[in-house]
Amino acid sequence: MQDWLAAQARVRAQRGIIRRTVPRAGAVLDLASNDYLGLATDPRLQAAAVVAVERHGTGARASRVVTGTHAVHEELEGELCALTGRPAALAFSSGYAANLGLLTALGGPGTLMLTDEHIHASLIDAARLSRSPSEVIPHGDLAVLEQRLAARSQPRAVVVIESIYSVFGDAADVSAVARLCAEHDALLVVDEAHGIGVAGHGRGAVYAAGLASAEHVAVTATLSKALGSQGGAVLGSPALREHLVNTARSFIFDTGLAPAAAGAAAQACRTIVHEPERVAAVGRNAALLAAGLDIEQAAGAVQSVPVGSPQLAAELAAKLEDAGVLVGCFRPPSVPDGISRLRLTARADLTPEQLRYATGLINTMLSRTEVPA
Ligand SMILES: Cc1ncc(COP(=O)(O)O)c(C=O)c1O
Repeated sequence: MQDWLAAQARVRAQRGIIRRTVPRAGAVLDLASNDYLGLATDPRLQAAAVVAVERHGTGARASRVVTGTHAVHEELEGELCALTGRPAALAFSSGYAANLGLLTALGGPGTLMLTDEHIHASLIDAARLSRSPSEVIPHGDLAVLEQRLAARSQPRAVVVIESIYSVFGDAADVSAVARLCAEHDALLVVDEAHGIGVAGHGRGAVYAAGLASAEHVAVTATLSKALGSQGGAVLGSPALREHLVNTARSFIFDTGLAPAAAGAAAQACRTIVHEPERVAAVGRNAALLAAGLDIEQAAGAVQSVPVGSPQLAAELAAKLEDAGVLVGCFRPPSVPDGISRLRLTARADLTPEQLRYATGLINTMLSRTEVPA
């Protein structure tokens, strides 16, 4: 095993895809995090986390279906419903666990799963674990999706998309996909990890499409991006929630979300409702980033600059870090087209001066670098 581990590490090094866990540096310009609304350091969220710890303890201490459900979980689920307009919510310990729980609880031999080509790894894993017959639909291809729905032999079908895709940041046509699902008696699962807090004045793309109370649409969310906390949720009908409480293994066999994370996320929902200007600032900063880098603006907070090889992306990110600017790297296997990219987050709390500084620096570095076409 030790030889194999060493050989695997050598292969990763050759391919330029080594990932590291490094503590965050203090005084840097952060264009890498997913704290889209700048809420992770908001004093109101921090205070809500402290209150939750004082009331409920530092850990939930058990599964939600044993003794691990606390009042703060119900508060969070209520606030998520108020924010997104969805009738019911169930909090999980991460967005990954929410996706696993939902798709495995819906899947099986009688459920065809049709998944968009660009969905997140957590959804891919969830579809695999569900043991459903499944098929990958070319990215955003409504014609193929309709054809597969019409031709299905299984009694049930689940279509899986993201409202704003995590890598390219493009938006799905949620209305059109939901219409097809309704016509073909399929359930639509929309992962709003990058949509809630960003699209639809922060209420998400499903809300913006007028589908907040649609029974044939289920939403998954993470609490760890725009909501500045940690955890995940499924948002849907009361019947779906009840089904998940009883069958979703990543809910039942997992300790409940930590009270501090639940309290902070509940406060984040209230803040988003009352401060829509934060959400507008993400769009403004995304436009400034895209214009400054001369790239097409993506729909969400994440903008990306193609740079070609993973080695080059890592090298540029390291140089930028040395100059005090943190950016992310999209490298295989995270990029569906294999083209590595610098990943930049248009956080609401970045100033135009900071964005000008960062884009200037990136442009200077790119101009000194031969980027493969
Ligand atoms: C589209 C999507 N879904 C789910 C997740 C997982 O969320 P979490 O980090 O809360 O597990 C992510 C996180 O990167 C994501 O981008």
